[in-house]
Amino acid sequence: FTVPTPENEPVNSYAPGTPERERLQKKLAELAGTRLDLDLNISGEWRRGTGAEIEVVQPHRRHHVLGVTREATAGEWADAVAAAKAARHDWVRTDFADRAAVFLRAAELISGPYRDVLNAATMLGQSKTAAQAEIDAACELIDFLRFNVSFAEGIYREQPISSKGLWNRMDHRPLDGFVLAITPFNFTAIAGNLPTAPALMGNTVVWKPSPTQQFAAHFVMRVLLEAGLPHGVINMVTGVGEHSETALLDADLGGIHFTGSTRTFQHLWQTVGRNIGGYRTYPRLVGETGGKDFIIAHPSADLQTLAVAMVRGAYEYQGQKCSALSRTYVPASLWRGGLKDAVVGMTEDITYGDVADFANFGGAVIDARAYAKHTALFERLRGDAKATVVTGGTADDSQGFFVQPTLIEATDPTHELFTEEYFGPINAVHVYDDADFDTVVREAADIAPYALTGAVFATDRAAIARASEALRFAAGNYYINDKPTGAVVGQQPFGGARGSGTNDKAGSWQNLIRWVSPRSIKENF
Ligand code: SER
Repeated sequence: FTVPTPENEPVNSYAPGTPERERLQKKLAELAGTRLDLDLNISGEWRRGTGAEIEVVQPHRRHHVLGVTREATAGEWADAVAAAKAARHDWVRTDFADRAAVFLRAAELISGPYRDVLNAATMLGQSKTAAQAEIDAACELIDFLRFNVSFAEGIYREQPISSKGLWNRMDHRPLDGFVLAITPFNFTAIAGNLPTAPALMGNTVVWKPSPTQQFAAHFVMRVLLEAGLPHGVINMVTGVGEHSETALLDADLGGIHFTGSTRTFQHLWQTVGRNIGGYRTYPRLVGETGGKDFIIAHPSADLQTLAVAMVRGAYEYQGQKCSALSRTYVPASLWRGGLKDAVVGMTEDITYGDVADFANFGGAVIDARAYAKHTALFERLRGDAKATVVTGGTADDSQGFFVQPTLIEATDPTHELFTEEYFGPINAVHVYDDADFDTVVREAADIAPYALTGAVFATDRAAIARASEALRFAAGNYYINDKPTGAVVGQQPFGGARGSGTNDKAGSWQNLIRWVSPRSIKENF
């Protein structure tokens, strides 16, 4: 058989006066008025946790509690692991077509009846605008589900050559153990992909979403169950993961699918490393982590295109994308010839506020910790002669965790502004002499410990070619005359290396192949 040929899900505009907008607004009002119990799900059963309570708030209305979740106890983690192990026997033996059908049905449910609830939950819980929620919780999540089925089919179909008298074949088995999926707050789509990609390939999963994303994750879990996911194939534990070692140190751990901070991923890797003799098989470690993503502009760049890319790349979703622009290298001729004015003008027009007001460009940063990181940076910058805040540099948490879109000019390209990830709406600009383009490119390539996304803006082909070569290892997703955010499933496989992760390209077969352990079979006739 062949699976349906996937197409990227069309993006709704939610323009004023459209029925989509009205429906979404109704759903927002309905959900904002709830105080949901965000329970664990083990073997398909919703279970009230017994650990410490964690309040889930709207980041832009921080005094308003959306739901309550609880820190999973060691016993609850153990139950989730046991459930994943128990479900394994049947799921491993379930035909690919039957596994695929569950996720294709989930995609239909999100495309139809669940679209509003997933978007509204993502808007309220993660402070995304309707536009940012739509490209994430609806379109990208649907795309992951549909395209992964197609990528998986390609993997299963790939077979070695056989010759006369014998038959070589490949059995793409699931991993020899359960998968632990740990997901971040910033993309509902990633949260949906991390447990479902291994499950599609026949693995069973323990999934721990970030508590700051638990609101939307709760609805993703509901969709999966409604789509017919057999009980125990994906089990959801809640909280920050105080007792995650229960899963991490289990002899049957087959792999980890992680998106989050570089530090946490390194900690997971170290924990696995320390226990390496304690597993039946080497766990697969797949991680997508931090970034210090860049734009480097050549004097030949188109000023207007560049200005828009700088603003959208750095400030959409308050800069909380691992792909977000946070350092920009611009030639003096462009900067002084209108680029600075254009960028400052657009940046000062940005309004961050309540995402239920569709006129706002963005919302708040995710929580008090993210907020404090930014106020500490602004404090440091006040006494710093090497950096000038051009616009922004202020924050206000009286209603929500609001950090203003901030543009900083810094003379020293080794300043922390060009190496540290803040994960917020901060863009540092280094202005260089036009003649120094190649030197700037070379230095920018290795200054930060990350290699996730980056972009070059130029109309001069020779300059593009030189930069592309010099930046070969500086970004896993490399853009020419486009902002470094917004990779689309099936179009720009996503991931980076160095401190940014294992570069196992989400949104491509290269990610799915990590969740199988092939067996080569040779049979003589
Ligand atoms: N895939 C997202 C982007 O490209 C980030 O996770 O922006």
